[in-house]
Amino acid sequence: MPGYDRHFAICEGLGIRMIPVALTGAGPDMAAVERLVGDDPTIKGIWCVPKYSNPSGEIYAPEAVRRLAAMPTAAPDFRIFWDNAYAVHHLTETRHGLANLLEACARHGHADRALVFASTSKITFAGAGLALMAASPANLAWFERHLSRRTIGPDKLNQLRHVKLLQDAAGIDQLMDRHRRLLAPKFRAVDDVLTRHLEGCGVASWSKPAGGYFVSLDVATGSAKRVVALAADAGIALVPAGRTFPYGDDPRDANIRLAPSFPSVGEVAEAVEGVALAVLLAASEALLRSHNQEAVA
Ligand SMILES: Cc1ncc(COP(=O)(O)O)c(C=O)c1O
Repeated sequence: MPGYDRHFAICEGLGIRMIPVALTGAGPDMAAVERLVGDDPTIKGIWCVPKYSNPSGEIYAPEAVRRLAAMPTAAPDFRIFWDNAYAVHHLTETRHGLANLLEACARHGHADRALVFASTSKITFAGAGLALMAASPANLAWFERHLSRRTIGPDKLNQLRHVKLLQDAAGIDQLMDRHRRLLAPKFRAVDDVLTRHLEGCGVASWSKPAGGYFVSLDVATGSAKRVVALAADAGIALVPAGRTFPYGDDPRDANIRLAPSFPSVGEVAEAVEGVALAVLLAASEALLRSHNQEAVA
């Protein structure tokens, strides 16, 4: 945690119980993961956004990938849902890599453990992209059995459009470079404004992602909902606080996901000014409250 709200919504919709695991900056807390999956056969899988995570910007280190592939699991049918949604969505000139989970799983004798997917939603056209999946031959055969009942065939014209536009890996890199030139200034604006207002105040910290679509903002414990409400009063729509945790429940009420990709650079800067002031105001209110409580006591 924090994580992607639709993963949580899928599990909630299907009645699958979720257990939050902390992220470390280089992937999940692997000691916690190994303990949980090693002990409990009812734990059947883990969601991972392994690169430029939504929202933390995390890139899983090779050692985290290796441990996920190698770890013993009490459930023989344990699966890793490897949502590599931001595989090529770099925000700097460095195209960060990621260890190959499928190969690692096969190497460690767990070929069927990994289900890898991605899409061109944020490469070509949101709502008209291609979905991609990679898995072992056994998993793909299982998937195709279901898919063939769900749809009679893929949208071949859209596949052709993608091939014509992107051509090959170099074509994807070129398009993503153009996206980066649009997006990087917006992320810089977020960081500049937050730094100007909040650095050194001790009430907030935020991610400085090298890719992906989000900045993860942590505010004073117990004040994220208040920040979102104050921002709303000022006409700034933020993702509701809590969304980055299963069941909408951030136990510290501290995390807010900022998504600067859509508005213009000017609008982003103006909105984040408002957010930063809301963070300061909410933190001041909390401080005053605890001060007053101490005075009464
Ligand atoms: C981690 C992650 N997976 C998947 C998606 C959505 O992908 P698609 O539009 O292909 O469903 C998003 C979009 O925000 C995302 O952040």
